[in-house]
Amino acid sequence: MCGIVGFAGKSAAKDFLFEGLHRLEYRGYDSAGIALLNQDKFNIYKTVERVQALKAIKGFDNDGGALGIGHTRWATHGAPSVENAHPHTSENMKFAVVHNGIIENYASLKAELEAEGISFKSQTDTEVIPQLLQKYYEGNLIEAVREVTARLEGSYALGIICTDFPDTLVAAKHFSPLIIGLGEDANIIASDVTAIVSHTKKVLYIEDGETALITPNSVTVYSADGTALERTPSVVGWDVAAAEKGGYEHFMMKEIHEQPDAVSQTVESRIRGREIVFEDIKLNGESLKNINRISIIACGSAYHAGMVGKYVLEETLRIPTEVDLASEFRYRNPIVDEKTLTIVISQSGETADTLAALKEAKKRGSHVLSIVNVVGSSIAKASDDVIYTWAGPEIAVATTKGYSTQLSVLYLFAVWAARMLGTMESEKIEALFDELRLLPKKIKRVIEAEPIIKQAAKKCGNPHSLFFIGRNTDYAVALEASLKLKEISYIHSEAYAAGELKHGTISLIEEGRTVIALCACERLFDKLLSNVKEVRARGADVLACATEGNTVIEAEAQEVIYIPKTHPLLSASLEVIPFQLYAYYAALYNGCDIDKPRNLAKSVTVE
Ligand code: AGP
Repeated sequence: MCGIVGFAGKSAAKDFLFEGLHRLEYRGYDSAGIALLNQDKFNIYKTVERVQALKAIKGFDNDGGALGIGHTRWATHGAPSVENAHPHTSENMKFAVVHNGIIENYASLKAELEAEGISFKSQTDTEVIPQLLQKYYEGNLIEAVREVTARLEGSYALGIICTDFPDTLVAAKHFSPLIIGLGEDANIIASDVTAIVSHTKKVLYIEDGETALITPNSVTVYSADGTALERTPSVVGWDVAAAEKGGYEHFMMKEIHEQPDAVSQTVESRIRGREIVFEDIKLNGESLKNINRISIIACGSAYHAGMVGKYVLEETLRIPTEVDLASEFRYRNPIVDEKTLTIVISQSGETADTLAALKEAKKRGSHVLSIVNVVGSSIAKASDDVIYTWAGPEIAVATTKGYSTQLSVLYLFAVWAARMLGTMESEKIEALFDELRLLPKKIKRVIEAEPIIKQAAKKCGNPHSLFFIGRNTDYAVALEASLKLKEISYIHSEAYAAGELKHGTISLIEEGRTVIALCACERLFDKLLSNVKEVRARGADVLACATEGNTVIEAEAQEVIYIPKTHPLLSASLEVIPFQLYAYYAALYNGCDIDKPRNLAKSVTVE
C-alpha cells in the first residue's frame, strides 16, 4: 500500500523523508519519489528502483530544502513508472502532491480539466489533485485544499506543498491513514507511526474529512467546514517493529483485520449510484452474449476463490463454469475456444503455472479476464482484461485479504454480467447487490468474535489430523480453511464434500477426531446435519460454523461459531474469517513461523 511522508522544518527535509520512506518499505511499493521545495521551486526525485536509489539521483544529497513530501507507490492506476511515481505536480508547477488511496471519480475530473486545456503527464488518478489545486487556488492554500477535497470521491491521505508557502505543509485525510508527528522545530506527517517513532513519539491523529496546516512550529487541524479544532497529542508506545505490523504480532493478523477495508475498497470503488463500472475492460454485453462456457484457472487459495466463483457464476449467469488448477490445466489439452471466457485469478500476478495456463487459454482463442492484486504484474499484462483487487500489498505468505477481495470481484462481476445478460430476475440480482455492499461491516463483526475462535483453537490443541466438511460454497470454504490450517500450523487436515464422507473417508472418523462442519448453506443444512450426526455417532467432536439464528445445530455440535446472515451466494466471505483466525491461533500455539511458513514462498514464480 502506498506510503506517504512529509516534513515542515528548519533543517534539510531530505533526511527525514528518505529515512521515513525506508521505514515504509515494508508496506510494499514499486516506485518512490520525493519533492523538496528549495528557493521557491520544486526539485523532484523519482525512481522505479528501491528507495535507496533516490540518494543516487543528482542533486539529492546536497538539497537543503526544509519543506518536502515523499511517497512509496503501490500502483493502482497506471503501471509502475517514473511518470506515474509521486509526487505529482500541477501544470504551473505551483503544487506538489503525494496521495495514498483511490480517487474514484478521477476519470470525469480529468476529462473536465483536459477540456479546460490542462495537460496531464501521468496515467494516475492522483494527478487530478494538483491540477484541481491550480484551478481553485486564489491565494488561500487551505481554502483551495478544502474546495478540491470537496470534489473528490473515494479515499485519500494527502501531503500537499505549494511554492507560495515555503514553510507550510498541508495534510488531508479521508478513509486512508495519516498521522502527524510533533517534533522539535519540525513537524512531520506519515502514513503510519513506523516512519515517525524514531523522530518523535508525540503524535496527533486527524480524522476523516479533516485537513491540517503544518509549519515547523505549529499544527492546526480543521474540520470539513473550516472550523479550527482542538486536538490533544497522544504518545505512541510502539517501537518500529511493532509499528510496522500496526501493533499486531504478525502481518497475517494485521491483514485479517484489514479485510473489511480491503473488501470495501474493492467493491465501492466500482460503484456509481447503483451501477457497477469496471474501467478499461473490453468485455461488454455483446461479447458476453457470445460466451457459452466460463473456465476459471488459478492455484492454491485463488483456486478456492474460483470454486466459490463457480457456484456464484452458474447461479447468476446460467453459464457452465469449470474451475481448474493451473498446473493441471496447462498440461491436459483443454477444450477452450473463442466462446470460452477464461477467468484467471492470482494475488501476486506472477504465479508461473497460472501464467502458463493463461497463455494456453489465449492460444486457443479464449478471452482472458484476470483478477489480480498487483498492478502491472505478468498476469495482468498478459490478459485481455484485468479487474484489480484493491487489497493493497499482502506480506504474510498465507493469503487472507487477497482471497477475500478475489471473492468480492467475482461477486461484482456476477452482478455486472447478470444485469447485462438478464439471466437472473432483477429483484434477486438487486438483493444480491445490496447484500454485497453490507459485507465489509459483517466481516468486521466476524473478526470481533476473535476471542471465541482463539479459545476453540486452544481447546483443539495439536491434533494429529482434523476434518472440514461442507456442501456447495461451504465445501469451497472447507478447502480454503483446511489449506490455511495446514500451511501455517502444520496440522494435517482434510476438506471433504460432506456427501463424500461415506464413500471412504468416514473410516477415519473415530473417538476424539475433530470435525469442523461448515453449515452456512441453509438450503442444504438438513443434509449437512445428517453428516454431522454420522460423525458424532462415530465419536467425533464437532465444531460447527452456522448462521446466526440456527440453534438446531447446537444439539449436535459441541461448539458453534456463528456468522451473520447474508445472501446465500456471499456466505463464503463471512465463513472463511473464523478459520483464518483459527489457523492463526493454532499456528501460534504450535510455535510456528506464521508469516513465513516453512518451505513456502509468497509468490511461486517457478513451476
Ligand atoms: C495461500 O495462502 C497460498 N499462499 C497459496 O496457495 C497462493 O494462494 C497460491 O500460491 C496462488 O498465488 P497467487 O494468488 O499469487 O497466484
